[in-house]
Amino acid sequence: MILVTGGAGFIGANFVMDWLDGVDEAVVNVDKLTYAGNLGTLRSLHGDLSHIFVRADICDSNTMDVLLEDYQPRAILHFAAESHVDRSIHGPRDFMQTNMMGTFALLDVARRYWSGLPGAEKDAFRFLHVSTDEVFGSLSETDPPFREDTLYAPNSPYSASKASADHLVRAWNHTYGLPTLTTHCSNNYGPYQFPEKLIPLMITRALEGKPLPLYGDGQNVRDWLYVGDHCAAIRAVLAKGRAGETYNVGGWNEVTNIQVVHVLCDLLDELRPKASGSYRDQITWVADRPGHDRRYAIDASKINRELDWKPAETFESGLAKTVRWYLSHEQWVADVISGDYRKWVETNYARRA
Ligand code: NAD
Ligand code: DAU
Repeated sequence: MILVTGGAGFIGANFVMDWLDGVDEAVVNVDKLTYAGNLGTLRSLHGDLSHIFVRADICDSNTMDVLLEDYQPRAILHFAAESHVDRSIHGPRDFMQTNMMGTFALLDVARRYWSGLPGAEKDAFRFLHVSTDEVFGSLSETDPPFREDTLYAPNSPYSASKASADHLVRAWNHTYGLPTLTTHCSNNYGPYQFPEKLIPLMITRALEGKPLPLYGDGQNVRDWLYVGDHCAAIRAVLAKGRAGETYNVGGWNEVTNIQVVHVLCDLLDELRPKASGSYRDQITWVADRPGHDRRYAIDASKINRELDWKPAETFESGLAKTVRWYLSHEQWVADVISGDYRKWVETNYARRA
């Protein structure tokens, strides 16, 4: 079996569901269930004996030790993190705790477990760390996309905490020989994304008739990838990636924020027209994110060349699927928009207007 951390969050849950759909190998899913973790997302797996959910904190080494000894996974796939840049600006402490200290704790537990494995199992074991393109910092309009050997230049508390985790993973490979794999992925979108991130935030607010807050001039560029394509990339890296290597994962799909929001509004105009006017009328301009990275873009040629992975969805097909998903899962959205979410929206947006 494999052990996944953060499998009740957006990408982790999509990964676990895709995995159990296509592979006959059980998953131990370890998640602390922070505000971003949601068991409702995993409802389709209730009763599936191949899915073992454990509510635990990756920082709790004793529990993680016991889980590894009990379940003897052949791989650890590490998704768990605090993941929202704006939250990291308002409160960086949790990011340092989970992303840095949590990754350290997990690596150390993994090393002990891996050291005790018999020969063939030890050789086959993998620790796959799911990182982000944000560790490479910000590109100008004319810079080439990030490659695996682009220098680190994290700019936000979030990306600095992820960069720290990457360095720990590298060190555990270099010093102890732990067979690690690291992926650097661009912006994901798709089903079950918490509505604090751009795409689900805009869809849910549009449907509620609320303002659609674009930061700064709306010209920041992100390289969008459908979450199912990211999950396929992780499966490819786990199956065929070379231990100690890093792989960039991206959609070859650079879009400005204003373009993203226009496409979303147009899709909603078509699928759920308003009584009058367009959803575009709800767009508002708000104060910029402090230290806002201008552009991200991924050169995903290494993973294509070496592991034969490329995205299956186009931005148009992926976004249409995503909008349809949110339109048909309004209860899921209602369930995750708790009092805590409302408090966050107030904290992040009240002073931007
Ligand atoms: P998310 O915030 O939706 O989910 C994170 C999950 O981790 C939640 O279920 C949460 O409960 C869990 N978690 C947090 N702290 C924990 C702890 N201490 N112990 C155990 N579980 C804990 O995040 P996501 O968007 O699904 O991102 C998953 C991973 O992918 C993260 O490592 C993130 O940095 C990386 N990533 C995300 C994107 C993106 O666009 N969302 C892109 C590239 C990389
Ligand atoms: O690049 C990968 C990263 O993508 C991941 O590592 C992060 O976990 C993930 O959150 C994401 O980070 P971003 O900061 O790029 O994503 P976010 O959805 O928060 O913002 C996308 C862009 O939209 C960014 O330029 C900021 C802008 N934005 C965002 C929000 C929430 C707005 O203009 N208005 C908003 O209300």
